[in-house]
Amino acid sequence: MTADHPHIRTTDLKRYYRRGKHEVRALDGVSVTVDRGEFVSLVGASGSGKTSLLNLMAGLDTPTGGTVEFDGVSLASIPRRERAHQRAKKIGMIFQSFNLISHYTALQNVETALYFDGTHHAERVRLATAALERLGLADRLTHRPADLSGGEQQRVAVARAVVKKPEILFADEPTGNLDYDNSRQIMSLMKQYNSEGLTVVLVTHNLDLARELSHKIVRMEYGRVVGSGAGAPPPGNPPGGDASP
Ligand SMILES: Nc1ncnc2c1ncn2[C@@H]1O[C@H](COP(=O)(O)OP(=O)(O)OP(=O)(O)O)[C@@H](O)[C@H]1O
Ligand SMILES: [Mg+2]
Repeated sequence: MTADHPHIRTTDLKRYYRRGKHEVRALDGVSVTVDRGEFVSLVGASGSGKTSLLNLMAGLDTPTGGTVEFDGVSLASIPRRERAHQRAKKIGMIFQSFNLISHYTALQNVETALYFDGTHHAERVRLATAALERLGLADRLTHRPADLSGGEQQRVAVARAVVKKPEILFADEPTGNLDYDNSRQIMSLMKQYNSEGLTVVLVTHNLDLARELSHKIVRMEYGRVVGSGAGAPPPGNPPGGDASP
């Protein structure tokens, strides 16, 4: 919509879970913004609320309080069906555990991302093949996940996330199960898509790579944001420009 709204904004976002008599405050008033084309990394200790925040931003979960807005429009104001459709169209997700369908080939796994909008089979195959080729998997199209390495499986998951040309990529520790070289490869692939305009929100424990690749790093502790600082210069700013907040 208009340029004066951030791509994503959360305002005083809360997510409380009830465990018997206890209440877990997974998120306790989180306000963050992500600009269009920005690469934002969420870091923090285990249990600090990173996944909870990502899932709320992606519309996979409903907050206990507060709002999530895309381009200034509150998610809660969009009817459920429309919200699901928008999510399918505009959002790609990658997870630590790849989440591929085990009895599907690499190609079929990527094609599934195009089911939602009625793309015809031949076109799905063409787009999915192109996405896999770009990720260096041209000769793995008919492999099933069990016959792929971890790095290859995650590249299939990246292809599945980006094949529909989403606006936003959410990634929850996508390199948590990968060795250093594969981690670096997956992160730099995300960075390439980001350079082409994709907004990226990444949860990671790898602070070095986060510093190298992200425009902004958001630190979480006990369900709150405790700091937000610059990584690489924001999109549009020349390298070496003032990137301080
Ligand atoms: N479904 C749930 N029911 C109850 N408590 C939950 C639930 N999901 C998460 N929590 C709690 O909320 C807090 C935040 O969890 P969350 O998964 O967001 O953390 P995280 O920062 O992603 O951690 P990790 O780095 O280990 O993935 C934790 O204390 C967790 O135990
Ligand atoms: Mg998590």
